[in-house]
Order: sequence, then C-alpha cells, then structure tokens
Amino acid sequence: MIKNQVNNLKNEAVGEILEAKDEKTLEEIRTRFLGRSGKINELTKEIPKFSSEEKEEIGKLINETKKTIESLLSETKTKLNSKKEKEEWFDVTLPGEKVPLGSLHLITKTINEISDIFARIGFKRARYPEVEWDWYAFEGLNFPENHPARDEWETFFVDNLYSKKYGRGLLTPHTSSGQLREMEATKPPIRMLNIAKCYRRQSDISHSPMFYQFEGLVVDKGINITHLKGTLDYFFKQFFGPKREARIRPFHFQFTEPSFEVDVSCSECLGTGKLKNGEVCRVCKEGWLEIGGAGMVHPNVLKNGGIDPEEFTGFAFGWGVERVLMMKYGIGDIRLLFEGDLRFLKQF
Ligand code: DAH
Repeated sequence: MIKNQVNNLKNEAVGEILEAKDEKTLEEIRTRFLGRSGKINELTKEIPKFSSEEKEEIGKLINETKKTIESLLSETKTKLNSKKEKEEWFDVTLPGEKVPLGSLHLITKTINEISDIFARIGFKRARYPEVEWDWYAFEGLNFPENHPARDEWETFFVDNLYSKKYGRGLLTPHTSSGQLREMEATKPPIRMLNIAKCYRRQSDISHSPMFYQFEGLVVDKGINITHLKGTLDYFFKQFFGPKREARIRPFHFQFTEPSFEVDVSCSECLGTGKLKNGEVCRVCKEGWLEIGGAGMVHPNVLKNGGIDPEEFTGFAFGWGVERVLMMKYGIGDIRLLFEGDLRFLKQF
C-alpha cells in the first residue's frame, strides 16, 4: 500500500517536472515533493508503523524516489538553462543596426549659409521681435497711417494689443522692422543681417503664411549705390555660384529712395536669355530671375531711427529665405518646405 503511494508520488513528480517550462516551477515542485513538509516526508512519517524488514524496504524505495526526482530536477534545470542561453545568444560580429541620424532642416541650413556669407564681410546677425508694433513695421518706415501701400503687406494684426506711442500690435510682415530697431540699438557704422520669421495672409505655391526673410542694413558715412550693387554681386556669387551676377531695376518702396527690384542672372543662360544653340532660354526666357527689393535708406527712416541723414547714408535689402533656396535647388512649391515629409527633406 505505502509502496504504491510512493510510486504514485514519483510518477506525479516526474510528470510535473517534464511539463515544467522554467526554473521557478522546478523549485516549486522541489519544495512540494522533497521539502521538509513535502509529500515524500509526509509518507516517511508512516514508516515506524511497519516491521523492521518492511521498514528497510520502504526506506530504500523512498530514498531511490528522492534521488530520481532530484536528478531529474537538476537535469531539467540544466536543459532549460542551455535553451535560454541559445535564445539569448547573438553574434557579436554582426554589423550593428543603424540608428537614424537627424539633420538640420533645409531652411535652417540655408539661414546658416546666408549668415556665414554675410559674416565674412562684417554683417552681424540681429534678432528682433516677431510680434511687433505698427511703428516699426510701417509708420516709422515712412508708411503714413492708412497709406494704400500698406495693403501689399497683407498683415495679421493682434487683437487687443495697442500702444499709444507705437500703434497696433501685429505679426511682423517683413524683416524691415529690424531696420529701426537696429538704428535705435546701435550707432553707425551699422552692418546688420536680420533673419526672422515673417507673417502674411497669403498661401499658394510660392507663398506661405509664415516664411523667413533676411534683411541687410548698412549705414555709414558715404554709403552709395555702388556699395549696394557690390554687396549683391558678392552674395549671388557666394550663394548661387561664381558666374552669377546682380541686376538692379528702378522700383518703389516707401522706406527707400531710390528703390530697386533686384534680379539674379539665370543659371542656364547667364543673363543672355538665349541658350548656346540660339534658342530662347527655357528657365527664365529673358536672362534674369527676380529676387526681391533693395534701395538706399530713405532720409525719413534714418531720422526715425535717430540718425542724421545729412551725416550718414545707407542701403538695405530684404528677401525671402525660401525664395532664394527654392531658386538654388530648383524647388517648385514652397509648401514642401513646411510639410515635414522626410522623403523630400532627406534629399538635401
Ligand atoms: N520689406 C520688403 C518686402 O517685404 C522688401 C524690401 C524692399 C526690403 C526694399 C528692403 C528694401 O530692405 O530696401 O517686400
């Protein structure tokens, strides 16, 4: 009877051990069967009931059963461990997985490039508010109140922001607002490069409601148009390539006199409008591509900035960062620059 019980326990334990999937279960089986108050020891308590002959026999059986269970437990433990090792093993000589590296956005790269180009000829980068007063964006730049020229700037005004001295609050629609800020902050000689976000109520393939401009301002004694033209030529050669040149055409801005529209010679026909085979250039049709505005700082603007126009003169220019980079890389739609699509951005 007791022998059967011992054998049953053995079979039970063996069955459970063979099923066990991890070390924890094996340990649990060990305490349940072999522990001090485990199933086998419970049976051992019965031994004194038997005759000395039977005692010896039962004792032997119990010892063998314990040994069998013990060795099966340790065998299984080793097997489980080596299986785990195999699963965890990896080939250290395999090349590692590449972690994708981020990079600067094309607009940031271009801003850095423009800053470097101008830094080489002494322009200092300036930073002025994006939420600005009417005075700096318009009035002080020689746009009288309600002047129709303001309409072209499609401005976002800020509700409930008004200053008696400076007028309405607005999102600056151009970096020219930095001109007056710079004149207030420093004395001539001034060589400022203001690159900032600008905002206008416009959206199509060449306009975005938020965009970047870079504005140059030079004020010193004896500054004239040749300095402006030389600076533009220098920038175009550095940014677009050594063969490119600047052209200035008469235009009108409130804050410059005279004012110009600036063009850069076309990359394909270099300003001739004709290809080598005599055909009309397909890129530009007439040799030049429009970049943006420039001019000699209006005496009223110098005065508003606290500078005597009898003593000092200056030139300024202000262009779109996206516009020049789109021309450089042949990008046709400004929205691509703000969509954050990596398939596009990774090309640059
Ligand atoms: N601020 C003008 C615009 O946004 C561009 C401009 C024209 C800037 C002439 C200048 C300048 O500095 O002299 O359209």
